[in-house]
Amino acid sequence: MKQPVGIFDSGIGGLTVLREIERLLPWEDTIYLGDTARVPYGTKSRETVIRYAVENAHYLLNEKIKLLVVACNTASAFALEILQQTLGIPVIGVIEPGALKAVEIARTNRIGVVGTEGTIRSGAYFDAIKRHDQKVAVFTKPCPLFVPLAEEGWTNNSVARMTAEQYLQDLKEELVDTLVLGCTHYPLLKGVIGEVMGEEVTLVDSAEETAAEVKRVLKEEKMLKREMGRKGCHTFYVTDSPGRFITIGRRFLGAVLDQVKLATVER
Ligand code: DGL
Repeated sequence: MKQPVGIFDSGIGGLTVLREIERLLPWEDTIYLGDTARVPYGTKSRETVIRYAVENAHYLLNEKIKLLVVACNTASAFALEILQQTLGIPVIGVIEPGALKAVEIARTNRIGVVGTEGTIRSGAYFDAIKRHDQKVAVFTKPCPLFVPLAEEGWTNNSVARMTAEQYLQDLKEELVDTLVLGCTHYPLLKGVIGEVMGEEVTLVDSAEETAAEVKRVLKEEKMLKREMGRKGCHTFYVTDSPGRFITIGRRFLGAVLDQVKLATVER
């Protein structure tokens, strides 16, 4: 199927998911929408996040996407179900794949989850993990400051380390053996988070797991692009400040972003 895969996030963070999709499915075309005018979602109410998510999804639907990836943990936590029920195309969120992976690899059945205030408050990871295995003990912690640190590029300095130590202390005391990075921005802080948690704790990157799920669903639905000769074409839209997205996005995507267009998504 020739149509592109649609991906949206509250802003820049979802580029970590796009990066993994590109790595696994290099020939697929993608359209990415970053809602940079209304970021962050992590501190907003359920109703507001649902409204934003529905608007973003319809914008991408108009672009004739074949599958939608909700590459934002907060939007997945609050709006995934309603999008899956109403869009008429496959919709994949970032929470289920990360939760499943954590359950599969946890050695002592003690799993930690870090995310935005909204994601943690929603209980979405807690519920998803428990659905897979009732016996697992789940410990969660909102870490809102990780988001601005990642955007500022302060991912490996003393401020990042001190912040990680402060936030992760409780989870360390609970002796979790697996930690889910339940926010698009956190994979950029993998280094310090890993150091603070110690090498016996395995980090789960939802971005990697989500890309694998996208591949599985495209295959199952017979939606994979047939022509594999050329690399996929990647289109980027943002709702504000394309310039900032290009500068900061490079760190998240690990590649140069050239064409970023301005979009209006409100209905
Ligand atoms: N993309 C958001 C998430 O994964 C983080 C940034 C925000 O708060 O909007 O939850």
